[in-house]
Amino acid sequence: MIDVHSHILPSVDDGAKTLADAIEMAKAAVAEGITTIIATPHHRNGAFENDKSSIMEHVYALNEALQYHRIPLSVLPGQEVRIYGEWLDGYRDGDILPLAETKYVLIELPSNHVPRYTEQLLFDIQLQGLVPIIAHPERNSELIEHPTKLYDLVKKGALTQLTAGSIAGKFGKKIKNFSLQIIEANLAHLIASDAHNTTSRAFYMREAYDVIQKQFGSQAVYVFRENAELLVANETLYKDAPERIKKKKFLGIF
Ligand SMILES: [Fe+2]
Repeated sequence: MIDVHSHILPSVDDGAKTLADAIEMAKAAVAEGITTIIATPHHRNGAFENDKSSIMEHVYALNEALQYHRIPLSVLPGQEVRIYGEWLDGYRDGDILPLAETKYVLIELPSNHVPRYTEQLLFDIQLQGLVPIIAHPERNSELIEHPTKLYDLVKKGALTQLTAGSIAGKFGKKIKNFSLQIIEANLAHLIASDAHNTTSRAFYMREAYDVIQKQFGSQAVYVFRENAELLVANETLYKDAPERIKKKKFLGIF
């Protein structure tokens, strides 16, 4: 299994604090069946700056440590970039690091609103030949209130990544239900852990896939898992697979 969003790199953001923490997270990931994980430190979120070159160095060092400890997990470089007006300048300056050095970039919205320039910027990012992935839209309060805004962004080419813990109910019932509604509306493309540690913000990938299996069937599980593989291979993800939806039981809010 591939996890495309994690904060496993030590001492770079609010994820793993030390190398020992990162090793513990790696063991937990392996126990969940994860074989490849993309490290996506926060960048430009007001608290942390992690540009491309520093992330590449940290990923190299963590892979060395995992080999030393004989932990069968491969770490790929990535970055979770908070949306900001000068994103394209950051990309041109070489600060932005796409997921696993592919065409896919992980974009984080603020938790309480969607900036007005979002739609235009996500469009402009695509003009660069990149594919924007909106990180955890199910946790954005404006999208919860106005889900058609998410529909519009996806229809204009953005992809979305739901957080496993949201689907597993770790952020509460409202966010779990919205996650299931997003899946049912065919607006979800990837499931990832966004793990920060092994306690309060752990992986929950197995739990999430158990919920998806139960609610939507094994075809849905297959599509999400396959999409993570396709992403790392820099291939095109499944965007629309209505046949994977076994039941229609979550309110039709879109
Ligand atoms: Fe994250």
